[in-house]
Amino acid sequence: MNTPQRRILVTSALPYANGQIHIGHLVEYIQTDIWVRFQRMQGHEVHYVGADDTHGTPIMLRAEKEGITPQKLIAQVWKEHKRDFDNFLISFDHYYTTDSAENKKLSQDIYIKLRNAGLIEMRAIEQAYDPIKEMFLPDRFIKGNCPKCDAKDQYGDSCEKCGATYVPTDLKNPYSVVSGATPIRKISDHYFFKLSDPRCESFLREWTQIKTPLQSEARNKMKEWVGKPGESKLGDWDISRDAPYFGFEIPDAPGKYFYVWLDAPIGYYASFLNYCEKKEINFNEWVEPNSPTEQYHFIGKDILYFHTLFWPATLHFSGYRTPTNIFAHGFLTVDGEKMSKSRGTLISADSVIQSGFNPEWFRYYFATKLNSSMEDLDLNLQDFVARVNSDLIGKYINIASRSAGFLIKRFNGEISDNAMGHPLLKEISSSKDKIALLYENREFAKAIRIIMDLTDKVNSFVDEHKPWEIAKHPEQEANLQTICSITLEAFRQLSIYLKPVLPQVALGVEKFLSIPEMQWNDIDTPLSSKNPIQSYKHLMSRVETSQIDGLLAANLSK
Ligand code: MSP
Ligand code: ZN
Repeated sequence: MNTPQRRILVTSALPYANGQIHIGHLVEYIQTDIWVRFQRMQGHEVHYVGADDTHGTPIMLRAEKEGITPQKLIAQVWKEHKRDFDNFLISFDHYYTTDSAENKKLSQDIYIKLRNAGLIEMRAIEQAYDPIKEMFLPDRFIKGNCPKCDAKDQYGDSCEKCGATYVPTDLKNPYSVVSGATPIRKISDHYFFKLSDPRCESFLREWTQIKTPLQSEARNKMKEWVGKPGESKLGDWDISRDAPYFGFEIPDAPGKYFYVWLDAPIGYYASFLNYCEKKEINFNEWVEPNSPTEQYHFIGKDILYFHTLFWPATLHFSGYRTPTNIFAHGFLTVDGEKMSKSRGTLISADSVIQSGFNPEWFRYYFATKLNSSMEDLDLNLQDFVARVNSDLIGKYINIASRSAGFLIKRFNGEISDNAMGHPLLKEISSSKDKIALLYENREFAKAIRIIMDLTDKVNSFVDEHKPWEIAKHPEQEANLQTICSITLEAFRQLSIYLKPVLPQVALGVEKFLSIPEMQWNDIDTPLSSKNPIQSYKHLMSRVETSQIDGLLAANLSK
């Protein structure tokens, strides 16, 4: 595929700065990273940016509890998140924070543009208020008895005991989780983004149903949401919160702050802007309407509405381009169940590293599960061990060790050039466009299946020609060199196909074969006798079942 160079801005959702990165998050960052690395290998101009999502009540309260400022808390968490992403080889070009000068300015500018467009309205609303702590209470900070079964300590939206759903005001004996006080009702002015305005309605109908090639599940959900002309179910969006709140103040509205979900997606642009300034990239060219560049947001299905309704409307009505597309994935379960602290399956990224796991095992395993849909995906721990040991190590990695030894010992690492037109190699390279298309369409599981089928063929080739037998017959020297050269070249080709998933292994392969950084089109540039290979060091080891037990134990909540 020789497409002209594309210019692509990519983001993953910005993780909240009040918790650790866990393997559920990693599904998303690994999915995005594989796609980004694939695009870079095509020679496209790609910028992959992220940031911590730092504002809101939970972060403010946690900092208070720890006796530090929110700024100090988010700085600490930023370091942990960055460490985790680096460990899992997530290749952000820039990782920033939403608590930045750029984000403040962009958020306030965008708000003023929306206001000038007549899309902001102030309205008084009544809400739960903690009279001791003197703050309004988000729903999840109110608990009480279930209105149906009377179970104690239930949240304001649903009962964990009987499953009833209700609104916070239905709770019996409600209390504030922050102070224990009984919440009172209090009126305050809030600012709303008027999504019910006919202009927003028709823009969003067109954007979600016609203009954007959303995933079909996403498009259908949005269809329900935006309704037919004249029957929109879009309510106005409450974008303000009262002090005390950790966030950005709203212009001309003292004591009022932007709700975290207003400034969080703008944080994508703020991160990119900060990066553009450092790299002397023209930011405007990327964000202006009709920009020829592409813009993709990878997210989980839980935050679809924010990205397919609020975010495009925010951008469009403040004079920016809108995203090219939104890519939503499903949720990770572990052994078929929701991740849980009590089973030790809420596995933190750091515990994976501390327990001696190779992060590329996870990258590979998730790749075998990921597709372009919003279906949930399961980490089955037994299957994980099998996939890693029998496929990744047993099939792919072992190809290198099966061929490199003879070439180094008997031929000074020299490749035989006349081996390079072999049908096996042609067969592998002829899958190049098919595999590329699957990566492009986020059908990673299918891509891996094809690559593993090719890997099986290479192993059959080795089994059939038995280099270890040929090696016993000195008169067959040339043949031995040919067989091993074909095998090693096949390994190189497979390594290109797997490079978006296994960048660290790919680096080892490049060193060992003494070749430059592999690009996608290098599939057709075979190894050559002019470049003797280096001695082979094992590229990856097996996972031990005992490591799984250790990992779960490390994540059991004490
Ligand atoms: N801060 C918001 C996103 C703001 S984007 C402008 C947020 N943060 S989060 O930390 O809760 O989640 C970050 C991403 O991880 C989200 O896309 C979310 O869907 C994803 N995941 C969180 N748990 C997950 C699983 N168990 N499985 C797969 N993805 C998961 O939402
Ligand atoms: Zn109940």
